[in-house]
Amino acid sequence: MCGIIGIVGKEAVSDRLVDGLKRMEYRGYDSAGVCTVENSQLIRRRAEGKLFNLVNVLKSDDAPGHTGIAHTRWATHGAPTTSNAHPHATGEVALVHNGIIENFKPLRDELIKRGRQFESETDTEVVAHLVSEQVEDGKSPEEAVQAVLPQLRGAFALAIAFRSHPGLLIGARLGSPLVVGYGDGETYLGSDALALAPLTQQISYLEEGDWVVVTEDGATIYDNQNKAVEREVTTSGVSAATIEKGQYRHYMQKEIFEQPTVVAQTLQSYIRPLEQQVALPQMGFDLESIKRITIVACGTSYYAGMVAKYWFETFARVPVDLDVASEFRYREPVLEPGGLALFISQSGETADTLAALRHSKENDQKIAVVVNVPTSSMAREADLLLPTHAGPEIGVASTKAFSCQLAVLAALAAHLAVVKGKMSREEEMDVVRHLTEAPAALNAALAYDEAIADMAHLVAPARDVLYLGRGPDYPLALEGALKLKEISYIHAEGYASGEMKHGPIALIDEAVPVIVLAPSGPLFEKTVSNMQEVRARGGKIVLISDADGLAEAGEGCMATIEMPRVHPLIAPLVYAVPVQLLAYHVAVAKGTDVDQPRNLAKSVTVE
Ligand code: G6P
Repeated sequence: MCGIIGIVGKEAVSDRLVDGLKRMEYRGYDSAGVCTVENSQLIRRRAEGKLFNLVNVLKSDDAPGHTGIAHTRWATHGAPTTSNAHPHATGEVALVHNGIIENFKPLRDELIKRGRQFESETDTEVVAHLVSEQVEDGKSPEEAVQAVLPQLRGAFALAIAFRSHPGLLIGARLGSPLVVGYGDGETYLGSDALALAPLTQQISYLEEGDWVVVTEDGATIYDNQNKAVEREVTTSGVSAATIEKGQYRHYMQKEIFEQPTVVAQTLQSYIRPLEQQVALPQMGFDLESIKRITIVACGTSYYAGMVAKYWFETFARVPVDLDVASEFRYREPVLEPGGLALFISQSGETADTLAALRHSKENDQKIAVVVNVPTSSMAREADLLLPTHAGPEIGVASTKAFSCQLAVLAALAAHLAVVKGKMSREEEMDVVRHLTEAPAALNAALAYDEAIADMAHLVAPARDVLYLGRGPDYPLALEGALKLKEISYIHAEGYASGEMKHGPIALIDEAVPVIVLAPSGPLFEKTVSNMQEVRARGGKIVLISDADGLAEAGEGCMATIEMPRVHPLIAPLVYAVPVQLLAYHVAVAKGTDVDQPRNLAKSVTVE
């Protein structure tokens, strides 16, 4: 996805626009640009690549003006070049866009027939021309936007500046988030409250179909019927300080180390340690009557869902379907009325997951969401909102959001089991006890950071890496492989350890490190047998287990990583730490861009 920001201010805006982009670089970093309005001129500066390229352009060629818009891009239509970078402009208007204009092709063809000339390959540029046509026809900015919005299909958050109207911006939202921020004699637009954190904490979230006229005196918001509406002004809790790196070299490293704290924070909302009870927020439906759960998510959130499937089925004996969101709607899933559809997302904005949520709603499912951004689209559309309290996650590779998702999902699974009469009071107390132990166990796992850093050079030269796990540790193997791919660009695959003999074993040789996740417990022996199959074929093993497991099977491994001995319930949370740290240290050893790996974006708001 992309990040957008706009300021109608009392003072020069270009530095502050760039500062806002810095806070949104996690949303995309293929190119960046700003456009200000000054002396009835649109002053546009753009650069391909990371934001510092734009900063350099502005150093030699500033963009003066008290009104401006800016954009950081994750490319969809058109390569990440300067000419495809936003803002897109005509002589009259400039605009930035997050989302996709799905019907851009016919719109573009018609515009070309009418003699308009395009300078980019983007879908966005059609909107600039459509608005411009209206303005050139003598319409006011408000009339122009009103005329154009109904022509657009797809998803958009827009911020539009007008050459002849300094001191005015128009924003619009459909399917992509947009907030209005209120300052002292200044007003802002932004993709999220994080972008505006140093400027204001006073935020209104636009609803679907809203558009907004922004001046230094405030904002007038209209709904999709062009009726002026009030949207609540909330105080955002996001402070600029929570998004600094502090003592850490990378955001990802900081976020890995925050896990004991944020998992504890999250658990506070889901367990009552004194009563030794699992406690869920009030829900407007009867959980006991749920007969089937459909879990849908993407990326790392999907792997959290995969762990949860084991828990829902083991504890509550409720059957679970699990889908990656991009496949879900297209396989025409059978959704019996009254089922529970559960969506897991750090951002709450991932387009595939959001579309799956809406599809489930149309099919009479109760909607539960586990999200880290409580003001996100998914959070707003849920019947049951289960927030994770991980705090802003900036590193593109998700870490602390994952462990917090697992904490919430474990509590939800136990609660469902209790209301369904499948979990005794003693078992519930046990679950609460183990969950309460999770923060300390995460701390203990983090103590092996240095040891993991020391062995990262064994994995860094590999071209391929295999991760193996069994039961709820199998999704962890998948997550480990995903982390390594994302940030170190090493090809990696996660496999159910018992499945390895049906194919991937053919890949094994001394050049392919095999990372085995095997906490001691009921599945340990079986996983170790699979590990021996690797060893028998000359494979180089990194065994991640506790002291007992390492004592039993650690001999002859290329390396071992010791974890604290934990109950199987919290093992997936704890074993997330070594796979995250291993990927992190391998990436550092390889010198890749850990927080902003190539081609990725933190949250993808296009399908
Ligand atoms: C992107 C990110 C992943 C993330 C996935 C789902 O692909 O790079 O790290 O897991 O989106 O995002 P969500 O916000 O829905 O959890």
